Amino acid sequence: MPLTADNFKFIQAFAKDTAAIILEPGKEYLVDTRLSPLAKQAGFKNLDDFLNQLRMNRTATLFHEQVIDALTTNETSFFRDFYPFETLRQDVLPALIEQRASVKRLKIWSAASSTGQELYTIGMVVREYFPALKDWNVSILGTDLSPTVLAQAKEGSYSQLEVNRGLPAGLLLKYFSKIGSKWVVKDDLKRLIEFRPMNLVKAWPILPLFDIVFIRNVMIYFDLEAKREILKKIRRCLHPSGYLFLGTAETTMNIDPEWQPITVGKATYYQSVTPQAALAAA
Ligand SMILES: C[S@@+](CC[C@H](N)C(=O)[O-])C[C@H]1O[C@@H](n2cnc3c(N)ncnc32)[C@H](O)[C@@H]1O
Repeated sequence: MPLTADNFKFIQAFAKDTAAIILEPGKEYLVDTRLSPLAKQAGFKNLDDFLNQLRMNRTATLFHEQVIDALTTNETSFFRDFYPFETLRQDVLPALIEQRASVKRLKIWSAASSTGQELYTIGMVVREYFPALKDWNVSILGTDLSPTVLAQAKEGSYSQLEVNRGLPAGLLLKYFSKIGSKWVVKDDLKRLIEFRPMNLVKAWPILPLFDIVFIRNVMIYFDLEAKREILKKIRRCLHPSGYLFLGTAETTMNIDPEWQPITVGKATYYQSVTPQAALAAA
């Protein structure tokens, strides 16, 4: 049975208000595929009955959380797009190591960390190529809205299919242990990394000043206003000389002029145009 127009409108507004997710007209099939299993599992006859119930119950419930969880796209992989991690290794980390030598502290944030592959990739780059950082205070924070992906990220447990996507065999054998059919991140790497829930379009918790922020492949789902607000907030929690990485299909251009794109090799990172203003705002 097709989704009623009213229920599609409701779910569009709900996804936008709760997580800034834009469901364009024509995405009814996506709502249907993602939410019908939830409706069935909760014992409803069809998706419309489930959505009618959701509409009546205005307070946040487990259903609300599960619906947003099901509507998010969690696609990720180790060394996704490859080049940003080359630039991290060849340019960004060497520059930061020089700049932060007196404090010996590095803080990195992945603001939509999904199932954790991006964070463990950064961690492997740090451990593999910068042994001197063993004596530094290095912390890597991953945040995401979805409790399901956060749970897998915390476990650091991946299927053969997941590790086959982008992870070189040498790094797999060095940083993961095979437990049953899963590959599990070893403790030395896990210790570098912390995962926490955070919704980018609600009030932000107090965050430290980061040296590098990765916010990749999440703002593509948001409208212009949400993107602008998030980029502004990142300026407040990124060190004035810090580095911002976006997804390959994302940019700050025509959204927030306070960022300058810098292309090194085949990757682009962004830095504050006016570091002094950023410092004052921080
Ligand atoms: C496509 S994944 C990107 C993962 C990783 N950054 C990458 O590029 O491979 C997008 C992630 O953003 C999360 N997400 C969507 N809306 C969000 C929001 N409002 N706040 C925080 N995370 C959100 C989703 O749960 C999902 O895990």
